Amino acid sequence: MDLDAFRWLLTDDGQRLLADAEELADADPLRAHATLRRVAEPERVAVALTQAGLRRKAVAKFGDLAARMYFTPDGLEQATRQRVATHRAARLQAFEAASVIDLGCGIGGDLVAFAQAGLVAAGIDLDPERVAVAEANLAALGLDGAVTVADATRVDTSPFDVAFADPARRSPRGRTFEAADWTPPWPFVERLLARDACVKTAPGIPHDLVPPGVEAEWVSDHGEVKEAALWSGRLATTTRRATVIPAAGAGRRGEHGLATLTAEDDPGAGVVPLGRFLLEPDGAVIRAGLVTAVAAAVDGGLVDEHLAYVTTDTTDLDLLETPFARAYEVLEELPYREKPLRAALLTRGIGSLTIKKRGVDIVPEELRQRLQLRGDQTATLVLTRVAGHGTALLVRPL
Ligand SMILES: C[S@@+](CC[C@H](N)C(=O)[O-])C[C@H]1O[C@@H](n2cnc3c(N)ncnc32)[C@H](O)[C@@H]1O
Repeated sequence: MDLDAFRWLLTDDGQRLLADAEELADADPLRAHATLRRVAEPERVAVALTQAGLRRKAVAKFGDLAARMYFTPDGLEQATRQRVATHRAARLQAFEAASVIDLGCGIGGDLVAFAQAGLVAAGIDLDPERVAVAEANLAALGLDGAVTVADATRVDTSPFDVAFADPARRSPRGRTFEAADWTPPWPFVERLLARDACVKTAPGIPHDLVPPGVEAEWVSDHGEVKEAALWSGRLATTTRRATVIPAAGAGRRGEHGLATLTAEDDPGAGVVPLGRFLLEPDGAVIRAGLVTAVAAAVDGGLVDEHLAYVTTDTTDLDLLETPFARAYEVLEELPYREKPLRAALLTRGIGSLTIKKRGVDIVPEELRQRLQLRGDQTATLVLTRVAGHGTALLVRPL
């Protein structure tokens, strides 16, 4: 990105060009470029068209705010989505933190949420483009805060109540799951976790990498696990936590709000015979190792010691209204072998099949093709192991 052209975009003339670029968002790119070239220089046209495109793309992460924000392509990809950042900021608010330093703030996904929560927010990043964009985002949203180009590993964080870092998990070879390859790297993270801090990491972080006394919080948004946040110092309130941010209107009665489950909610649960209901825990619950907490909460147990399926015979159907798992009623067991399974599905007129699987070596898309189903009924099939045996269950989502 041409930094001068980006800065110009923030002027009144630049904003007019950006508005024109946004109107041309559906036009053929060459035509859009040619139209805007009549009124502006090529670098400015390029930056305006890029921002217009990125704002559209950013709606998925930032909702209505996207229309007023600025991005870089990589900065947008790496940014924390608004719902998750808002949850993090709310935890800092609940802790009554007054100030936070964001060490590697990128385009400001988290920084904006901190400032919106009323914290004094300072951001630093090594990349001058991202600093310019983060600064523009605070200004565009009418938020206070300071953003500077600096190296996070050399900053004194002590004046701030909380230090936050979201290390880049990319190496020249692409995404990296090796904590040693993060920038800033793992030793920096470990040092930071010796104070009141929060560090965003990838959901796949091994449990044994989490230092003693640090809380790991797996967060899912609309059913997808987005991150594991490490909370240290006085911000750590448990060892493992699963936080579920549901889709608007989620739950049978559309009333699920943000929900959180911790290691203290987990009395443990054993394997029990398959009951009337099957529950598929949310990914955050699975990553946090809290499947047994869900089993206990629904008066049930595990279908298999090593699989993340819960089963229960509870008569209290309200228990199944949990934000932490998707509940299904088990309608019947079908043959597991492919030929008789196909015959059973055809007999029931099932032409459209959702296949869920866990613990069995099956590729649902390939199986669906091989089954060559016909019929006007739709159904959900779960393929899993029950008491060590491959099992096919016809289920109905509750
Ligand atoms: C994953 S991104 C942060 C995204 C941000 N949380 C958001 O929501 O927009 C990581 C950022 O850390 C920055 N970074 C990496 N090493 C750094 C260092 N030593 N000092 C400052 N920033 C650094 C990168 O430039 C990048 O912008």
